[in-house]
Amino acid sequence: MGFLKSIFGAKEAKIVEVAPFGSRYEVPSGETMLEAALKNGVPFPHNCTVGTCGSCKCKLKTGRVSALSDFGYTLSQQEIAAGFILACQAIPKDALTQVEVESQALDMPKPEAFKGRISATETLTHDIVRITVELDRPIHFIAGQYANLNYEGLPRARNYSFADAPDRDGRQQVNFFVRKVPGGAFTEALFRGELDNRPLDVEGPHGNFHLHTGNEPMVCIAGGSGLAPILSVLEKARKDRVKRPCVFLFGARTQADLYGLEQIHLIKANWADNFVFLPVLSHEPDDSAWTGARGLVTQFIADALPGIDWNKAEGYMCGPPGMIDAGISAMTQIGVPLEAIFYDKFTDESHSAKSA
Ligand SMILES: Cc1cc2nc3c(=O)[nH]c(=O)nc-3n(C[C@H](O)[C@H](O)[C@H](O)COP(=O)(O)OP(=O)(O)OC[C@H]3O[C@@H](n4cnc5c(N)ncnc54)[C@H](O)[C@@H]3O)c2cc1C
Ligand code: FES
Repeated sequence: MGFLKSIFGAKEAKIVEVAPFGSRYEVPSGETMLEAALKNGVPFPHNCTVGTCGSCKCKLKTGRVSALSDFGYTLSQQEIAAGFILACQAIPKDALTQVEVESQALDMPKPEAFKGRISATETLTHDIVRITVELDRPIHFIAGQYANLNYEGLPRARNYSFADAPDRDGRQQVNFFVRKVPGGAFTEALFRGELDNRPLDVEGPHGNFHLHTGNEPMVCIAGGSGLAPILSVLEKARKDRVKRPCVFLFGARTQADLYGLEQIHLIKANWADNFVFLPVLSHEPDDSAWTGARGLVTQFIADALPGIDWNKAEGYMCGPPGMIDAGISAMTQIGVPLEAIFYDKFTDESHSAKSA
């Protein structure tokens, strides 16, 4: 990466302006837009710094940039076409580059470092567990955000989304839904029980995925462990008596991969407006007793809430990158504005490895 930087940034320093904070700073040759922002004390939203988490997503208003790694591993084709870039992978090419960061990103609680320990583990499906982590003090977060979890000896922290609605006084016990990734360092160790008594470093909160204010219809889609942030958002909205029509599509392979159904039905029963819940199975055997929807979860968006003006709807999605890309494509095709589609892509090491 240092070699690429030296090629891309071989000339004079460039100026970057960031709205809405109105910051202006110089990017020396070989530095990314994010690196220079942080050196200059600009509070640019960020987390992984390697192009996989999407936290530094911003809209390019003026100027051109070179990408250290393909933005397409984290951003959708629609977002790239609309001018979105990742600041941690962007090297300015022109004398002046102007970018815009989503303003709500600035109001998020500031990340802090916590010590934690797993106090309970519950099997949810054959490859997803709920872990309860007891922290040394309460953490404040916004529904939909995530934390970085690490233990001694692991070179890089892993991101896990809070599965609970936040408490006004913060939460000292937090739950995460963790899916086992074959060959994955953190999840394999967790599923072997090696993290049960191990001190964890927990840092957060991070991320800009959250419920936006308004009364537009909401389309939520979760895949696999992506249920965690969606439940966090829905549970908080239910507690706040948010009055918006909502369709929630939960994509899974088979009936054995569905979980959290009791909590989803409680949210549905107590929702202040129309709430449609539609689990969709992609690999359920043809001869099973399942009478519900079959196929890809994103095929069912258009018909899930009849009579909706999709131009006024908002999309909320969390889960595997392929599902998010398909969801953005399906939603924009029926008229949901790209600016009204919010998501967290659950990328992992294999995604950054592809782009290296
Ligand atoms: C914002 C965000 C929120 C997330 N929230 C959640 C959540 O709530 N729940 C959840 O389960 N997950 C979540 N994730 C995904 C999670 O952070 C981890 O990526 C995942 O758990 C894998 O961690 P691991 O250490 O087990 O795997 P890793 O060690 O990161 O490996 C992942 C895969 O990459 C392969 N790999 C490793 N190194 C290389 C290499 N050099 N070349 C090629 N392949 C390689 C491994 O074999 C494995 O298949 C989230 C991700 C993001 C970005
Ligand atoms: S900080 Fe840029 S993608 Fe994570």
